[in-house]
Amino acid sequence: MSTVSYKSAWKSPSNIALVKYWGKRGLQLPANPSISFTLDNALSDTRVEAIAAPDQKAVSVELYFESQRNEAFEVKIQGFLEKAAIEFEWLKQYHLIIHSSNTFPHSSGIASSASAFSALSLCLCSIDEQIKGITHTNFFEKASFWSRIGSGSACRSVYGGYNLWGQTPALNGSSDEFAVNIDDIIHPVFQNFKDTILIIEKGKKAVSSTAGHALLNAHPFAEIRYQSGFKNTERLLEVLESGDVDSFIQIVESEALMLHALMMTSPTPFILMKPHTLSVIEKIWDFRNQTGLHLLFTLDAGANVHLLNPESENERVQEFVKNELVGYCQNGLYLCNAVGKGPQKTL
Ligand code: PMV
Repeated sequence: MSTVSYKSAWKSPSNIALVKYWGKRGLQLPANPSISFTLDNALSDTRVEAIAAPDQKAVSVELYFESQRNEAFEVKIQGFLEKAAIEFEWLKQYHLIIHSSNTFPHSSGIASSASAFSALSLCLCSIDEQIKGITHTNFFEKASFWSRIGSGSACRSVYGGYNLWGQTPALNGSSDEFAVNIDDIIHPVFQNFKDTILIIEKGKKAVSSTAGHALLNAHPFAEIRYQSGFKNTERLLEVLESGDVDSFIQIVESEALMLHALMMTSPTPFILMKPHTLSVIEKIWDFRNQTGLHLLFTLDAGANVHLLNPESENERVQEFVKNELVGYCQNGLYLCNAVGKGPQKTL
């Protein structure tokens, strides 16, 4: 008798937050709502095979990252799958073989947890449909829910375009448990926005985002931050609809700097920006003053700088990057992205 097995594969992107998620409560619920757009060129490519093992009675997983068995990732994924078994009960009767790789350079400092957990959650939802012989009408919402349990920001990666995560009175249907797509309100000027990621520093961050979120629990400015997160979400929704790029710049840069200011002012302070991060920010401000173009920056929890600009100004921005900013990038590395179309099922 041949062994019963089910397979699924998804390519899923990373995303860049415009209003930041920083601080959480309960089971990975956000302290304030956040808004991001999905990238088109920074993907995890994940394939899952579930092989029937009826006597197993516990989650069991084998994980290969870029073709190498990776035990550190395996431990993380095992913990996630144990939680996911609450809904996907079959996980306790199947052995999982996961193969995953990224389209962006390994340890480039790009957040890979968003693409990795969204790709894996999409695979779980697809296999769930096969095993149960059903179609999930809320497929992407379910995938977003489980991505969130893996890594909060991952829940915003299961759709293309612009997405909001976290309950806010400013958007009907918003939820703390999963992200929702907001493309129907987006003004054309934001629709093909560019994101050029300058790799200032490769490698692992000095402080993980898990530790960073935890520091908010005893942070003197936490409440003020959460209120700003709510307010900026509400303002950014208006701006994304009206096409007011100047206000977009003000909100997005302020969110990035606030994120890093929170790190610097936490009870155990830490700094993830590097001297080149600050040099690039100064250069961007000078360029904007001199040209009147709408180039802005945002930062993730790391030293790398995301340059954002409307599509219509991209040629001049790319020239500026080549002539003036490449020197600040480690090994001259930068990655060209734009608002992406979201995950793709490949098997
Ligand atoms: O998803 P996590 O737990 O890695 O948190 C990521 C938080 C930021 O990337 C700094 C901001 C965000 O909203 O993506």
